[in-house]
Amino acid sequence: MARESDFDWHEEPVPLPGPGQVLVRCEYLSVDPGNRLWMWPTDTTVPVQAIGTVMRGIAMGTVVASRCAAYAEGCVVQGVLGWQDYAIVSGEGHALWRMRQAERLTPQTHMTLCGHVGLAAYFGLLEIGQPRAGETLVVSSAAGAVGSMVGQIGLLRGCRVVGIAGSAQKCRWLREELGFDTAIDYKTEPVFHRLRKLCPVGIDVYFDNVGGPLLEDALANLNVGARVVACGMLSVYNDIAGVLTLPPGPNNLLNLTLRRSRMQGFLYSDYRARAKEAFEHLLDWHAQGRLQVRIDTIEGLRQAPRALNRLFDGSSCGKLIVRMS
Ligand SMILES: NC(=O)c1ccc[n+]([C@@H]2O[C@H](COP(=O)([O-])OP(=O)(O)OC[C@H]3O[C@@H](n4cnc5c(N)ncnc54)[C@H](OP(=O)(O)O)[C@@H]3O)[C@@H](O)[C@H]2O)c1
Repeated sequence: MARESDFDWHEEPVPLPGPGQVLVRCEYLSVDPGNRLWMWPTDTTVPVQAIGTVMRGIAMGTVVASRCAAYAEGCVVQGVLGWQDYAIVSGEGHALWRMRQAERLTPQTHMTLCGHVGLAAYFGLLEIGQPRAGETLVVSSAAGAVGSMVGQIGLLRGCRVVGIAGSAQKCRWLREELGFDTAIDYKTEPVFHRLRKLCPVGIDVYFDNVGGPLLEDALANLNVGARVVACGMLSVYNDIAGVLTLPPGPNNLLNLTLRRSRMQGFLYSDYRARAKEAFEHLLDWHAQGRLQVRIDTIEGLRQAPRALNRLFDGSSCGKLIVRMS
């Protein structure tokens, strides 16, 4: 786990934007398992981060000074602004994401639906998972930010949805509030046997947020022609041995051959050009009450390191966001 002593609190005068840059006042910080991955001393989805630089993180905020014609003062934006109150960002290229006016949505819900979480759930499931009505979808970390959205989109597509989560309370939420057909508590139930029982003809789509033993249990229960969506493997992000060698893979990949199935990874950023399509659907479903977003808000940037560990001890549910004060 990351330790609070891994972080340093640093204060300096608010900088001014240079030509082509904007100054953003950060208001909401998304705390993601990927933050831990970005702390690895090696390149991941981004180049390795140098010690002593601002911790990377996705945040939403308001442009308070601009020297870029594309972003006027008052614009609400999202991007990799970092764990800081004010960020200087280039207004050119893809560094910033403009947030449209969202009525009747809290900023936290807005940034979850219309940001990396929404994109990963929507395109990961629909493009990589290709679910069809009547098929069985299994999703791990099902009560998490991405997983809870994936399960609900699967239901909207007519799938039978089985969630895997780490407590009876989370499983009850999935079944009773979100409408999942069923849920498995992986901390108290034998997942392989439960999947065999609950998916008698096998899993058609496995949306993997976790990797590790749960992935092996899912691979051992695939239907012919299944799709395994490799969204992330958060069970290894704290694995320091894995940092150096990468963790051992699942020992039963042969199931992909035997069940004529495929496994594919993706990054939400692959779908940046089609973001509008996803956001329109997600906002619509949410407005109709068919897609719920649960937000867990933590107050104050100083709490961010502690919040990060809540993603790995199971005490978070839904999307974890730090409100800067
Ligand atoms: N490919 C992309 O572009 C993309 C974009 C966004 C996110 N992701 C990935 O998607 C996954 C989910 O992200 P998220 O933001 O929605 O996080 P999340 O699922 O909300 O993560 C927190 C939850 O993970 C569960 N968890 C922690 N350690 C676990 C373990 N060892 N085994 C099983 N479950 C564990 C815990 O719930 P329990 O109580 O259930 O254990 C915890 O509450 C991550 O792997 C992330 O890296 C990928």
